[in-house]
Amino acid sequence: MRDPKLAPERSSTALPLIFYGRIIHSTSRTEVTILSKASLGINKDGKIAFVETAHVSPAEAAKRHHGFGNASIIHLKPLQFLFPGLIDTHMHAPQYPNISLGMEGDLKEWCEGWTDPIEASYSDTSKAGRVYPAMVSNLLTNGTTTVAYNSSIHPDATNVLAEICKEKGQRAIIGKLCIETGATHGNMEKSVEQSLKDEQKVVEHILNKVDPKGELVLPCIQPRAGSYVSESLMSGLGKLCHNATDEKSGLRIQAHMCETPLEVSNMHALHPGYQSYADMYNHHGLFGPRTILAHCIHLTDRDIDVMAERGVGVAHNANSNTCLRDGWCRVRRLLERGVKVGLGTDCSAGYSISILNAIRQASNVSRHLAISTGDEKWVLKFEELVYLATMGGAEVCSLSDRVGNFETGKEFDALVVDVGLDDNINVQGWEHDEEAMLKKWVFMGDDRSIRKVFVAGKLVAGKDTEAQKSGAMWMAS
Ligand code: GUN
Ligand code: FE
Repeated sequence: MRDPKLAPERSSTALPLIFYGRIIHSTSRTEVTILSKASLGINKDGKIAFVETAHVSPAEAAKRHHGFGNASIIHLKPLQFLFPGLIDTHMHAPQYPNISLGMEGDLKEWCEGWTDPIEASYSDTSKAGRVYPAMVSNLLTNGTTTVAYNSSIHPDATNVLAEICKEKGQRAIIGKLCIETGATHGNMEKSVEQSLKDEQKVVEHILNKVDPKGELVLPCIQPRAGSYVSESLMSGLGKLCHNATDEKSGLRIQAHMCETPLEVSNMHALHPGYQSYADMYNHHGLFGPRTILAHCIHLTDRDIDVMAERGVGVAHNANSNTCLRDGWCRVRRLLERGVKVGLGTDCSAGYSISILNAIRQASNVSRHLAISTGDEKWVLKFEELVYLATMGGAEVCSLSDRVGNFETGKEFDALVVDVGLDDNINVQGWEHDEEAMLKKWVFMGDDRSIRKVFVAGKLVAGKDTEAQKSGAMWMAS
């Protein structure tokens, strides 16, 4: 039990706020920076106002920085650190109830047996109201502060998802999935016109009703993949993007690409005449710095040339690529060509909503590539894995000017990690080695060690009550 003689816990997270203690983040693709003792100030707008790394006490920092005179100060404990919020660049919201089911089949069998029926069931909008709140809360509790969500073909259910993300404070990229052909169980739209109209309806709902200032929820368009959307619809979606070019309404794009050899050949059958998959999306104006492409396993050299030239980003879904036996995404090859890469959970083809799990899976897939080719170059280094889960994801979502690390001016999307809270993380003997502490969390941690979660400076998930009830010791003075 908590010692009653200890000073009462000061857990105020009202802004402005200063954290004092260990701060860990990615400062480049090859560098994880650990600041052992630093003051990080969050202003009343939820942005990072300063990171004082010199020998400045938080009280002095409060005096030095305008607007921080009355700031609350949270002192992190020896086994705690601040870490940037985790970013999931590819997650299917309607598939959430199916997690862990359907791993027997390949992509085609899984889509037809599991995905089409569950996605089709969101024609009942009340289902979105039952599933999505629990899902968003679970992702936040697991430290995922930004998600690029795929939805279903239903505008109303998609609007519910956008409203819930905004309400619960999760940063999200959301659009209605477009499927016009190739699916089963009625998981298809009535016409090209209906699909475009419904996509526009969701975009407008997000821009005008859910989040007019574009603070958290950003709209996107979503052709499911080349094999599910005809030339005519693909072209209409491209025009929708081109009509929205300003910063506020500039639309992001999410789609699947080159997931299996069959998927690639189905795309070519529906869109004859293109040299490569990338040429098809690019022709329709769907390729640019705001494009998020899931999988990108079976790429041609031509695909990579076009991707690099157009500045698209890739969601690397190591868990689902393994579960569906799609193949190995060669992340090193993409990074060498300057293609942006982040991590995705791709639930429910992947079985875990945790980006910590996505890191581990990406690490293992890179090692399997090294084993199978005899070439060490494929192995993703620890620093690169941390980058992919945070800054890489921010780049893929075209949000790296706003989130991804603790640069001054960015929004405070962050986790308070406590490796002493999780019995699974045996830090014994490594309490003073900061790198070991970080590695232990990345490879052994889960939501138990994620003590508080902030998005844009606002506390959106935390364990205060549970931790106090269970007697776990955490005291901020
Ligand atoms: N290809 C088309 N739809 C899907 C999907 O929902 N998940 C995955 N992994 N691949 C897809
Ligand atoms: Fe997917």
